[in-house]
Amino acid sequence: SSHNILLLPGDGIGPEVMAEVKKVLNWLGSQGAAKFETETDLVGGAAYDAHKLAITDAATARATQADAVLFGAVGGPKWDDVPYEARPEAGLLRLRKDLALFANLRPAICYPALADASSLKRELVEGLDIVIVRELTGGVYFGEPKEIVTLENGQKRAVDTQVYTTSEIERIGRVAFELARKRRNKVTSSEKRNVMKSGVLWNQVVTALHKAEYADVQLEHQLADSLAMQLVRNPKQFDVIVTDNLFGDILSDIAAMLTGSLGMLPSASLGAEDPATGKRKALYEPVHGSAPDIAGKGMANPIAMMGSLAMALRYSFGLLEAADMVESAISNVLASGLRTGDIAAKGQNAVSTGEMGDAILKEMQRL
Ligand code: NAI
Ligand code: MG
Repeated sequence: SSHNILLLPGDGIGPEVMAEVKKVLNWLGSQGAAKFETETDLVGGAAYDAHKLAITDAATARATQADAVLFGAVGGPKWDDVPYEARPEAGLLRLRKDLALFANLRPAICYPALADASSLKRELVEGLDIVIVRELTGGVYFGEPKEIVTLENGQKRAVDTQVYTTSEIERIGRVAFELARKRRNKVTSSEKRNVMKSGVLWNQVVTALHKAEYADVQLEHQLADSLAMQLVRNPKQFDVIVTDNLFGDILSDIAAMLTGSLGMLPSASLGAEDPATGKRKALYEPVHGSAPDIAGKGMANPIAMMGSLAMALRYSFGLLEAADMVESAISNVLASGLRTGDIAAKGQNAVSTGEMGDAILKEMQRL
């Protein structure tokens, strides 16, 4: 079957790292195991220059129809003064909204060759491979009322409201369980049921869903504060962590620091499953931005973008072997000592974006 991919390279180093992913996609397609049809469109500053918009309706429609979107990065000083609605990030925000991407997946993989770049001791993180599944469209960031009111005594009172419904918890729980089945079959659900009603409901809904549909997956519950502690004490105990918008924001940044450079971190954002086709909307992107300081110099690390491709292969296309192959190739190339500037040791020779991409492709061809 053919997989339809929309490429949105964006600005700055976005197109540079996307070029490396295209090499890998072309080669995978030429192997006959899968067929990829790619289209490319503009987003961010590049779209503004052409259309005075951060993304066009046509590009958004293409994204909605694609099996997966691969997104580079957007933004840069060139667009600092464009109208607010057309600022580069608006392109990404519109995609998240129109595709209803409610599940944000942030893996933290610590390649043994880079374990010394972690904030933790080598033995705690070497070989680490966890995914945080963060609920992205609900919770306290969006709940109503959300306001600052002035009281009669002149004091002000700020209100944010944490709201979750059964269906919102169920759908994010389902994403986590499905993910765990493709990995090491373990889910840790995290909330604060000891002090929050939304935590009580979260815990009940995840427990019931597990019992009804995912009893084959190992499930445990950890309070979010305790989980934060465990993440820096013994992170390798986890496989998939599922949590709400606020806790997920914080926990995924902690997890990022376990692995080293920004140039290494991929992510996925998933939407609802289409009941007719069983497919879900999905956008895959590196965690980093457009890196204007190194853009155009061939210095960017393509591994975060490459890892995002691996996630697309695994979660959107079911090509688990190809996904493993990309990740093994990255790991082996790093083990061989090859480094882009962001992960090179002091005084070590750094390779270019293209050289790193070529080395990963060559290693895939050898595997
Ligand atoms: P950034 O992630 O672009 O860069 C931060 C630092 O990390 C820079 O020194 C950069 O050179 C380095 N870096 C990032 N990715 C790298 C890679 N692949 N290889 C080597 N080094 C890398 O974040 P910053 O500087 O805060 O933002 C720059 C622009 O990117 C801004 O316009 C910002 O709004 C935008 N941005 C876009 C995002 C997106 O498209 N999703 C996310 C974050 C920022
Ligand atoms: Mg954050």
